Amino acid sequence: MLALDVTDDANVKAAAVAYGKTGDTLDVLVNNAGVATGGYAVPSEASLDDMRAVYEVNVFGPVRVTHAFLPFLSKAGQGRIVMMSSSLGSIAEQLDMTSGTYGVNLLGYNSSKSALNMITVSLAKELAAHGIKVNAANPGYVATDLNKHQGYRTVEQGAAIAVHLATLGPMGPTAGFFNDGTEATIGRHAW
Ligand SMILES: NC(=O)c1ccc[n+]([C@@H]2O[C@H](COP(=O)([O-])OP(=O)(O)OC[C@H]3O[C@@H](n4cnc5c(N)ncnc54)[C@H](OP(=O)(O)O)[C@@H]3O)[C@@H](O)[C@H]2O)c1
Repeated sequence: MLALDVTDDANVKAAAVAYGKTGDTLDVLVNNAGVATGGYAVPSEASLDDMRAVYEVNVFGPVRVTHAFLPFLSKAGQGRIVMMSSSLGSIAEQLDMTSGTYGVNLLGYNSSKSALNMITVSLAKELAAHGIKVNAANPGYVATDLNKHQGYRTVEQGAAIAVHLATLGPMGPTAGFFNDGTEATIGRHAW
């Protein structure tokens, strides 16, 4: 096991070097780390320091880790990258007054996941030539430390979509945003 602080350049680079000593390929990278520093402050009162802290983990973290581990994913020939996003990052859903999350208006967290969605598309477009698929996963509202275990989905239910996207075959999608975890229920989420 490798300890990793996704906000720390040197630490992430050192982790990649240490990983390289154990092998030279990586099949799957799940960028799961996420924070919601600042909680439920209204947007007009959200602190920039909180917002920076959220972006360091939720936006720059996945880019930093992806850059560091990309050589191993490329060598794998069919690497898979999963970005743990959120329905709160969906601009379409945030504008939909009938959506259950319409009122969850978190300036830092929501915009960080919107940025992560575009990062997903951007990386997917470049990395398709290397056989690497990059997709964003919406786990739904899962009972974890992030929401003080208020979520109504289990960790297993939330993780299922990430597992699905991590194990896509060669004909699977890339540059997508998906929710739910089984072949029967999987669906594209509105960006
Ligand atoms: N729970 C939900 O309802 C929900 C909904 C939509 C999306 N998501 C997303 O799902 C992902 C997982 O969240 P969760 O619900 O499982 O929350 P969580 O229980 O709070 O877990 C967050 C994880 O991020 C790690 N982390 C935080 N800062 C880090 C850093 N600087 N470097 C490395 N790891 C760091 C934490 O590691 P430590 O434990 O070591 O601090 C922890 O493992 C997040 O991206 C979150 O935004 C969650």
